[in-house]
Amino acid sequence: MSDLQPPDIRLWQHIESIGRSLLERYGFDEIRTPILERTDLFIRSLGDATDVVQKEMYRFDDRGGRDITLRPEGTAGVMRVIVGGGPDLAGAKFYYLGPMFRAERPQAGRKRQFHQIGAEAIGEPNPAADVECIALQLHLLNSWGLQGYEVQVNSLGDAEDRAAVQEGLRNELRPLLGELCPVCRDRFESNVLRILDCKNESCREIVAGLPPISGMMSESSRSYLAEVTDLLGHLGIEARLATDLVRGFDYYAHTVWEITHHELGAQDSLCGGGRYRFDFGAKSVQGVGFAMGLERVIMALEATGGIPPDLQRRVQVYIITQDPAALRENLVLAQTLRMRGFNCEIELRPRNIKKQLRTASRLGAEWVVIRGERELNEGTFELKNMSVGIQETLEMPEMIEKLTSALSLS
Ligand code: HAM
Repeated sequence: MSDLQPPDIRLWQHIESIGRSLLERYGFDEIRTPILERTDLFIRSLGDATDVVQKEMYRFDDRGGRDITLRPEGTAGVMRVIVGGGPDLAGAKFYYLGPMFRAERPQAGRKRQFHQIGAEAIGEPNPAADVECIALQLHLLNSWGLQGYEVQVNSLGDAEDRAAVQEGLRNELRPLLGELCPVCRDRFESNVLRILDCKNESCREIVAGLPPISGMMSESSRSYLAEVTDLLGHLGIEARLATDLVRGFDYYAHTVWEITHHELGAQDSLCGGGRYRFDFGAKSVQGVGFAMGLERVIMALEATGGIPPDLQRRVQVYIITQDPAALRENLVLAQTLRMRGFNCEIELRPRNIKKQLRTASRLGAEWVVIRGERELNEGTFELKNMSVGIQETLEMPEMIEKLTSALSLS
């Protein structure tokens, strides 16, 4: 888990603010769910045989003896809201942004607290909605300045296909069971789809020889996937059909995808998403969504030189107090300038004027206002343009006018 602090935090804020405005352009509203949820929600939503539920949840009893978990992902909490919210939320489109927690072994690109920007669009299966969701992610990546990613799509078939796909895979794998790694031998019964994305070399070889799972699905699921790939092509989106892509949660049905980046190394997934169906007792929710890992987006940006150079906090005006008696009035001046929209800083323990000037240039201040006792008595200000070094004596209205036109505020 890392602290995020200046100057790096500027890049986070930049990415988040572009993200928010773009998500709103696509019709999503922000939702903030609690970081802690009842453990039961994740077990039921993600699936009790998944790696996250089995090994990675920060799970504990609170003081009231309730079994709670730090959210490992954002979709389950949003679904809890949708199910509890009634018919008004039938077509809801929500986005979220915040920390997630998984007790995985840390490595490059894998944190125990990491941050996602994610979105969920509720609605019946519709290939156009899935494709719009993928297009949105690419729009986000492009707006952040990232190039060189790859989109992979697959289908898991709908919920009704699930048993046939699992059975088909088991039939293929049964004769090869002894050659699978011990983990996959366990997965054979509990979570056979996960064998498809085992990283073990010998399992990978076996998986490469399997027929694609789409052949085990119904005709309607196959044509759903064909419609998705056709629409992606229609929008000019290059996507590779990855027949071994399965994703790590049980809630997925139909389309799934991942966007990877070659600069990320072993943990190369930037974003993951797909269509899903949640069943909470008699109620069920369907939709499509995705989440992007912000640490990984930033790593990929750093590796490809896509970070905008000018993310420094802008100090437009720095107020220098020439003698302590002027401080009271300069405090008023600082507030006046801030109220008018200028980013303004002031030295609150004014001593040596040279030191104050050095601070102003260290902060990159664009203008400096100097005021001491003489200026106070005369009702004037010394205004210095730090880039050209020119200094002039002005009264308040001219000074404000000059700053306003120079700093393009109105
Ligand atoms: P996920 O694939 O588990 O999907 O996570 C999405 C992204 O979060 C990954 O592609 C990766 O960038 C980032 N991520 C995951 N684990 C870590 C980690 N330990 N450290 C750093 N980054 C990480 C989900 O979470 C689904 N809820 C996505 C979704 C939304 N599907 C439908 N709706």
